Amino acid sequence: MPTLSRRAESLGTENAFVVLAEVNQLIRSGKDIVSFCIGQPDFATPAHVQDAAVEAVRGGKHGYTPSAGIDELRAAAAASMARARGISISPDEVVVGAGAKPFIAYAIASVTDYGAGDEVIFPVPGFPIYESQCRANGAVPVGLPLREAREFAFDPDELAACITPRTKLLILNAPQNPTGGVLSSADLRAIAAVLERHRQIWVYADEIYSRLVYDAEFVSIAALPGMQERTIISDGASKTYAMTGWRIGFTANRQLAPVFTRWITNTESCASQISQWAAVAALNGPQDAAENMRRRFLARRDLIVRLLNQVPGFRCAAPGGAFYAWPNVTEACALIGASDSEELRKRLLHEAGVAVLADIHFGPRVAGDGQHIRFSYAAAESAIEAGVERIADFVRRATRPPRK
Ligand SMILES: Cc1ncc(COP(=O)(O)O)c(C=O)c1O
Repeated sequence: MPTLSRRAESLGTENAFVVLAEVNQLIRSGKDIVSFCIGQPDFATPAHVQDAAVEAVRGGKHGYTPSAGIDELRAAAAASMARARGISISPDEVVVGAGAKPFIAYAIASVTDYGAGDEVIFPVPGFPIYESQCRANGAVPVGLPLREAREFAFDPDELAACITPRTKLLILNAPQNPTGGVLSSADLRAIAAVLERHRQIWVYADEIYSRLVYDAEFVSIAALPGMQERTIISDGASKTYAMTGWRIGFTANRQLAPVFTRWITNTESCASQISQWAAVAALNGPQDAAENMRRRFLARRDLIVRLLNQVPGFRCAAPGGAFYAWPNVTEACALIGASDSEELRKRLLHEAGVAVLADIHFGPRVAGDGQHIRFSYAAAESAIEAGVERIADFVRRATRPPRK
């Protein structure tokens, strides 16, 4: 039999998609499930953005584009990313891709060598693609724990301790998936101070949730002195404009832009031209739909956090950004006799009709931080109320009497 490569064998996945397939299967078989498992806005793409796509198709703008993207979108993305970060970015530093996700692989492949022992540091819990792409690209994944006691920021001293001469890339993600945590200016300054001592390290700033920040201004590490040239800023249209399926993401870094462009020529050729024109309209057009979505997410955050804190054995801090809640469920697991968060997740799905993800879908559990599950609150208020009520009922029903 022909065999598979080590690369193919080591490729991980994003369990949200696996659980989603299971949930869809249950729904098709007639089960009533409230789902909090997929990280995408439940709003429609703004009407003017839809119109721009239709106009592009009708106007014959549906062929290949340059691999780095159409000039109009590179300029719009440069201006938008620069404005949000208080820095200046020129359009030729920007590369457009089919979502922000492919740039994770391109960045790792561009700054590490296969099998050479090059290390990549990334947050744990974190977006599972970071580790998966490290392994597939023959780099050494180094997880940096995010701690509940620090509101899911990491300790700069722990970062300093993880760095070796072989560290090539540090992946930051704020606001964060899955915890909803943000990095404060003080956190970022502390990280920059550590990096100042290690000039060989690139930073991948995954800022796909940059427009979904609730209690403070968004800040980027790229805005700190000396950081922009070594930082790959990654952002996109998916989360800000409810455009996940349109597949438009963009990065900015002067040195790596030509390299990313070559990757794109080697893979997808270019992002969909139709989606690119839609994204131009999203970025350059009125921002009220995006701002309205942000306000709705903020109201939902407050609702879900309040309700989750009323569930026996749940403890949930208010996340500063994105649309995820990450309650500590250690006590709830003990109450119902579940061995861990994954058993709780399965029981919630099959016995309460509520779909969530467990912490182990985002890397190994952080020692001493207990059990967590992830809710995506990109769901209607009525679904949040019904879903959390189901969970509370289930925990009450399933609670075992205390041992005598
Ligand atoms: C942290 C993080 N980075 C990147 C992405 C990818 O976004 P896109 O749809 O632009 O590929 C996601 C999507 O869930 C995410 O949560």
